[in-house]
Amino acid sequence: MTIESTLPNPAPAPQGERREPPPAPGGAPLVGHAWNLLRDPLGFLTSLRDGGAVVRIRLGPGSALAVNDPELVERLLRSPDYLVGGALWDTLGVLLGEGVATSNGPRHRRQRRTLQPAFRAERIAEYGVLMAQEAQRTADGLHAGHTVDMAAEMFRTATRTAARSLLCIEALDDRAERLCTALGTVFDGMYRRMILSVGPLYRLPLPANRRFARALADLHRLVDEIIAERREALDSGSNVDDLLTTLLRARDENGELVPEQEAHDQVIALLVAGGENVAKTLSWTLQLLAEHPEVERRLYEEVESVTAGRPVAFGDLKQLAYMRNVITESMRIRPAAWIFTRVAAVDTELGGYRIPAGTDIFYSPYAMQRDPRSFEDALDFDPDRWLPERRTRAAQTAHQPFGTGNRKCPGDHYSMTELALTLAALVAKWRFTQVPETDTTPRLGITLSPRKALLRVEARDA
Ligand code: HEM
Repeated sequence: MTIESTLPNPAPAPQGERREPPPAPGGAPLVGHAWNLLRDPLGFLTSLRDGGAVVRIRLGPGSALAVNDPELVERLLRSPDYLVGGALWDTLGVLLGEGVATSNGPRHRRQRRTLQPAFRAERIAEYGVLMAQEAQRTADGLHAGHTVDMAAEMFRTATRTAARSLLCIEALDDRAERLCTALGTVFDGMYRRMILSVGPLYRLPLPANRRFARALADLHRLVDEIIAERREALDSGSNVDDLLTTLLRARDENGELVPEQEAHDQVIALLVAGGENVAKTLSWTLQLLAEHPEVERRLYEEVESVTAGRPVAFGDLKQLAYMRNVITESMRIRPAAWIFTRVAAVDTELGGYRIPAGTDIFYSPYAMQRDPRSFEDALDFDPDRWLPERRTRAAQTAHQPFGTGNRKCPGDHYSMTELALTLAALVAKWRFTQVPETDTTPRLGITLSPRKALLRVEARDA
């Protein structure tokens, strides 16, 4: 039997035959499944897979639906009946404003259209030049024998790259560093506010709350500064043609210039969505390479055979086929993003189940991408499973690291370019090994990261 044939094949049900999604097993009388979700989120989300294609979980007085079937997830993401919303996005929206990642409807469509040119192929090739520079700078900044927190290191690289490529911030401008500091603190605090939304708790004058408030204010202030500077440059005739300029010149459906606040929210949306995901993916991939020296060796040999010792460049990427499969497999088994939420905008159905308007719905890429019904030896790190002759339809449906539908990540090619260039620069120069303090159990935040992403830097010829 092939893997595909074991997957259920959901078909839309006629109105009269729609069923209620079954309840997930377990759950305590008052809190429902909230305790399971808080105690062991990944274990709980994984256990839901066995409950059926769609299952209902109870969270205190409310409830939400978990979609576990990859084909239904695809329908969920492609259907206009669902909007971005739910705990994750509501929290993000309050803190970060209404940029493309949190808006819906016509505003979202307009914001997407505005961003699109910044992610065209010719632009990615331009960014590739400075991505390669940043990658080399990171590789050159490491020292043999040192133990490095790779999560922090990769976050700095990814945020600097985003600031330089999308906002044209100069390499030596200290704002790239200040953005890193502010974003790092904001991320930690946001997750806490997402899972425990007790407003008054976060207004208490506790050190953690003060740190968070300072970092959020600094982030907004920095973006205001960057925008004001660009506005001044444009007013005095500068013709910098980058994403920030496009955002400042965007017009709404009536042809009116959009308010400056919208450009501000868009910049924040990009920095937040971009830096964190790339950094966590790099951090996980380096851990996986340290755990699988045979994969690391093949990757190094591929990079060497293409670059022959010179620094890697954008033009090399099409020849780095194994690199692509390593990254794809790393994003499958150790995804940075572990949960996505939606809200039903109208009464609708999914897989024959009745979905009333207002229903909170979520799916977990983490659970889906590690499901043995979609992947042979699902928990093995096996980059060759993405070779054309081994790739299955089930695997491709279940692993869409950049999502699908109208919210599909606009930064997909940008990210693949940055990931490959950074990894190539790092493996060309160094090997990385785990130390006794390394802890790769996933640490949950807005994204997943290794609990202690420590790696020892080893010289290649050692
Ligand atoms: C490894 C890196 C990345 C991964 C795995 C990733 C993944 C995703 C996914 C799965 C979504 C869809 C979310 C949903 O359906 O609710 C998304 C949305 C988004 N991503 Fe990425 N992303 C990455 C990097 C980036 C980068 C580098 C940027 C920008 C520079 C970016 C900008 C965005 C934006 C703006 C959205 C919201 C799109 C919308 O709602 O229309 N992402 N990303």
